[in-house]
Amino acid sequence: MKNKIHKIAVIPGDGTGPEVIKEGLKVLKAASKKFNFTYKDQILDYGGNRYLKTGKTITDKELADLKKFDAIYLGAIGHPEVKPGILEQGILLKMRFSLDQYINLRPVRLYNSLFCPLKDKTHKDIDFVVIRENSEGLYKGMGSFKNKGKKNEVAIQISYNTKKGVERCIRYAFEYCRKRNKKKKLTLCGKTNVLTYAWDLWQRTFDEVKREYPDIETDYAHVDAATMWFVKNPEWFDCIVTDNMFGDIITDLGAMIQGGMGIAAGGNINPKGVSMFEPIGGSAPKYTGKNVINPLAAICALGMLLDNLGEVRAAQAVENSVIKVVNSKLKSLSAGKMGCSTQEVGGLVVENL
Ligand code: IPM
Ligand code: MN
Repeated sequence: MKNKIHKIAVIPGDGTGPEVIKEGLKVLKAASKKFNFTYKDQILDYGGNRYLKTGKTITDKELADLKKFDAIYLGAIGHPEVKPGILEQGILLKMRFSLDQYINLRPVRLYNSLFCPLKDKTHKDIDFVVIRENSEGLYKGMGSFKNKGKKNEVAIQISYNTKKGVERCIRYAFEYCRKRNKKKKLTLCGKTNVLTYAWDLWQRTFDEVKREYPDIETDYAHVDAATMWFVKNPEWFDCIVTDNMFGDIITDLGAMIQGGMGIAAGGNINPKGVSMFEPIGGSAPKYTGKNVINPLAAICALGMLLDNLGEVRAAQAVENSVIKVVNSKLKSLSAGKMGCSTQEVGGLVVENL
């Protein structure tokens, strides 16, 4: 695939999104020179500001156009002046669903134990990946109100799980675990003791698919217990597969034990289509424009994007550079406490590349 020009759609989005994406693009430029690949980026203005001006979230035509890119690089979606849900459902979830990015891949790696809130845990203990189903479950938006606004109101929110959706996610997780080639252990994280329809399907499918992967050790944890193990024994985990809602929740906890939202990145993966990479922390409106937000999560997301494009050496170099910066210059990974500005951190990653 050499000499291919990678077409990258860039959606800086809201809040601190544009600031962190700017640093990511600095790193992309440097990586392309050093590792000799070419790319063409196109900046798209989808987000809260455009919505406030035009009333548009994202159109079908825009979604269709996104499919022509090789990858999407996203900053953050979420605006304090827009009612919660409109942009999240109208832009972020719409992209994930329409582009069939059915995996949300969220690595949890501690690069420097100084930034871990857990006592006595090092990089050896916190190194796992959450494979979150990204197209179904409670996120499907199915449900209804009965007697809305009355005393006897009922609100129903359905978790929608298809055999196809569950199976492709579990299969992806086994393949990923095998390819990662570390502990070769995959933990199913669910709630079989209470959610006896959805998790019956998940458990049965997991048991079926695992027969094809005798080299992978398997395990099960209820989601509540998993949050406990994340804090107590994170070293037990290698790969974790779970549904959309549980994956959302446990990856925020995962982000905290790896040092915070400032370093946590994720990929919304369509293995046969276009995938989208983002820092998982959101738009952090209170830090907007202050040059204090940590761009490393966005830079790690860029590393994942490069890996997805097949620029494996560049991806590895970006991660290694982040590791160096996290182990030398930064006082903290949190916004405003790093001892460096957003732009300085981006510059350091470029220097160490
Ligand atoms: C995430 C976010 C989103 C989600 C929100 C913004 C819709 O929290 O990417 O984890 O719930 O998936
Ligand atoms: Mn989340």
